[in-house]
Amino acid sequence: MSNPFVEEIAQQVAQITELAVADVVAMMETPPKPEMGDYAFPCFTLAKTFRKAPNLIAEELAGKIQTGDRIAQAKPIGPYLNFFVSKGSFVGETLSVILTQGADFGRSDVGKDKTVVIDFSHPNIAKPFGIHHLRSTVIGNSLRNIHRALGYDVVGVNHLGDWGSQFAKLILAWNYWGEGELTADITIQKLLELYIRIHEEIEDNPELEEEARGWLRRLEAGDEEAVQMWQICVDVSFKEFDRVYQMLGIEFESIAGESFYQDKMSATLERLTEKGLLKKSEGATIVDLEKWDMPPLIALRSDDATLYGTRDLAAAEYRWETYKFEKLLYVVDVAQSLHFKQLFKVLDLMQYDWVKKCTHVVFGRLSFKGGGGASTRKGNVVFLEDVLNRAIELAREIITEKNPDLLEGEQIAQDVGIGALIFADLDSRRARDIVFDWDEVLNFSGETGPYVQYTHARYCSMLRRFEGDLSPENVDFERLNESETLEVVKCLERYPKQIQKAADEHEPSTIALYLIELCTVANRFYNAHQVISEDAELTQSRVALVYAIKTVLASGLALLGMKAPERM
Ligand code: ARG
Repeated sequence: MSNPFVEEIAQQVAQITELAVADVVAMMETPPKPEMGDYAFPCFTLAKTFRKAPNLIAEELAGKIQTGDRIAQAKPIGPYLNFFVSKGSFVGETLSVILTQGADFGRSDVGKDKTVVIDFSHPNIAKPFGIHHLRSTVIGNSLRNIHRALGYDVVGVNHLGDWGSQFAKLILAWNYWGEGELTADITIQKLLELYIRIHEEIEDNPELEEEARGWLRRLEAGDEEAVQMWQICVDVSFKEFDRVYQMLGIEFESIAGESFYQDKMSATLERLTEKGLLKKSEGATIVDLEKWDMPPLIALRSDDATLYGTRDLAAAEYRWETYKFEKLLYVVDVAQSLHFKQLFKVLDLMQYDWVKKCTHVVFGRLSFKGGGGASTRKGNVVFLEDVLNRAIELAREIITEKNPDLLEGEQIAQDVGIGALIFADLDSRRARDIVFDWDEVLNFSGETGPYVQYTHARYCSMLRRFEGDLSPENVDFERLNESETLEVVKCLERYPKQIQKAADEHEPSTIALYLIELCTVANRFYNAHQVISEDAELTQSRVALVYAIKTVLASGLALLGMKAPERM
């Protein structure tokens, strides 16, 4: 919450209450209505030391606060001590900071020298990039941007599903139905067909399962033929994923899929043995978690093949050793909640105290209004690339209709279409399920990505019409004294806090919802006041505000992973 106003209030309150300044800052709240003041200090916790009712404490403190340049008034309201800041200096100080820092406004270095590892996107090889990985990709990417803005070293890891029994099954399928040798010109559709067919076939002929296990053993043992076929599947799929990543503008610091841990798991298993955590159960090797009311984590199957969980144990250890992270975030859908509870429990039993730095960043399901499931085995997959292309196409239609002469129309259609998709994914708290409705997400006047982008473009166009100077020392901030204006400045001032909150809660929706709010107050200002007028001085002051709005909108969109076109 910290800004010079809060700092000053906190200094004064700390002095008279003997609390620490930082604690007072942390306790500060925003009153429910602007007429009640700008900041509120709750007096409840002081009742014990003061031996008084909180409302009496509020009164007593109010009498001791000194007003001045920043604090205009201190007023007890019930158990709260509310503060009114001096509007003129609040507007001036806030906007000066934004005008000076520009795109850096809101950034900080709280994360300096600390590393955050974000495990996100992680589609499965040899299957198409399904819509169910979109959420992880979009949420993870935004968390990556948000942490970077706070100065953290961020390692975005793509933990590709590139190992395990599905490859054995594919190889088997190719041996049955493939023509000639498996080569790199096989398409992902073909791989998918094979994948679906072998699953159906195994349901009818369970003995094929045994045959597939044989291939898995060969693969795990490094058999040349098996490895070569596996590599082809990986390469073909990855090329496909890469196209989607380019469309979405996503990058990773590390692409280390499950196969990366192939040679690291034996050491992990040794450590599990040393700690006495492994036992045999029905042929498999497990970590018993019954005491914690959970099914066991299976470390080795009865045929000694490793599993998803084994690889996750090795991956967590590797990441700790390599990055000594401040946080390790797994951006994975709610269906895997149990898996992560088991994983964290086992790491805890291995006595890794860093397990408390690991978080499963859960998100809910995404479905399309009007249907469209996403189960690969059944074959009714929604291809992410098709969805992206559809979004672009719909955006193109809207944009051409609105503004047929737009020069960079094609690029803008991409930015808006993809932006709409990203925003729709991020504008509700991530744990909620979302139902995707094309008409809604592309509505330019609803609470959507295009609405935020459009608002941004509108402020850009106002700026293009102004040629004056915007150095803070030359702007008369006193002219910005209307209530609509003040609401905008208050909203702008909260931006840095919102970034911190989004990072603390691993919740990009904080930024998305904040941007909607900023657009709402900004448009209220815009509808009430003419920005560019005959009055040159007033024009300059208002354009300064416009610049600040535009800067924060562009910055927030970037945190979400969206583009901010200057014309739309
Ligand atoms: N590839 C997995 C899936 O699609 C998700 C991987 C999540 N990350 C992890 N470290 N387990 O289900």
